Amino acid sequence: MFLRNNPHKLIFLNCVRIRRCVMFVGRKEELRLLEESYASAKGSVIVVYGRRRIGKSTLIQEFVKNKEHTFYFEGIESGNTKAQILHFTSALRKMVNDPVLDSVVFSNWDQVFTYFTDRVVNSLPEKKLILVLDEIQWLAAGRKTLIAIIKYYWDNFWKEKNVKLVLCGSIASFMVENVIRSNALYGRIDLEILLKGLKPSESLSFFSERKSKDEILKYLLIMGSVPRYLEFVNQKKSFNKNINDLFFSQTGRMNNEIEKIFYSQFRGSSVYRNIVNLLQKSVLGLDKISKLLNMPSGGGLKRYLENLENAEIIVSFIPYN
Ligand SMILES: Nc1ncnc2c1ncn2[C@@H]1O[C@H](COP(=O)(O)OP(=O)(O)OP(=O)(O)O)[C@@H](O)[C@H]1O
Ligand SMILES: [Mg+2]
Repeated sequence: MFLRNNPHKLIFLNCVRIRRCVMFVGRKEELRLLEESYASAKGSVIVVYGRRRIGKSTLIQEFVKNKEHTFYFEGIESGNTKAQILHFTSALRKMVNDPVLDSVVFSNWDQVFTYFTDRVVNSLPEKKLILVLDEIQWLAAGRKTLIAIIKYYWDNFWKEKNVKLVLCGSIASFMVENVIRSNALYGRIDLEILLKGLKPSESLSFFSERKSKDEILKYLLIMGSVPRYLEFVNQKKSFNKNINDLFFSQTGRMNNEIEKIFYSQFRGSSVYRNIVNLLQKSVLGLDKISKLLNMPSGGGLKRYLENLENAEIIVSFIPYN
């Protein structure tokens, strides 16, 4: 364990890792909400979630870009708690120049956050500090325990210290069940952003001026205003050539994208796949889906549908008639 009263004065190194070198586009409303939350004189819990590749990390990186005390951590896919803590510690070492960290091996999250509170939060009194936990579903190794521990540190140490805690995750079901609707964080979340595709007006920035509005609209209808996909469009190629290359050539970047997204969001669950297979054929109401899948129309099925909608795979609407 580390020494609580370590006299070594900490130096905070290059806290934020900005990976992006592309031009940031849009998200004006989301940035406004984040800045408003940052400006408040107390600590805040901010949750950012949404489907994979929609731009959550990019949005957060844009938000923290010029903020002095930002500590950005990201979970690693498929790692167990031990691997997550090791990865977290090595990221912390790059942000905090503390010799203690060279020898310490944290054995649980409690030790990690005790260190973080004593050595980082408490050494920045009166300062705003942003703590970002990205890919929180991986950091938590799919379990609730990490959220319960975060709640403890939030209630007892962080909220009074002007900590801006940003929890970000891509698996809709984990984020909804264990973060947004968790008993642990109940009543504590100040800002919740379910990130969706860009607005059509924001998406325009991805296209050259030579492309017509009709052509852009066709791309947006197919690619759903997801910045990651719009980046793939080669401005020098025609619409047909782009679609052919991206979707139908063997090495096309959109080839099998739906399978990849499905797998990374919902893993092996066949229920999601069955729902989508049904809705692919026709528009159906809850009762009909429940009958065809032989599942009660209550909580469980509704939750699956909600997760698919949050991941922007299906859309619900109230029929006109
Ligand atoms: N607002 C934006 N402006 C420009 N490019 C963007 C924007 N948002 C996302 N992108 C592009 O899309 C890519 C994917 O975005 P990002 O990694 O932020 O998604 P994510 O939601 O965090 O994905 P994951 O769930 O896989 O972590 C970025 O690397 C960037 O190239
Ligand atoms: Mg991300």
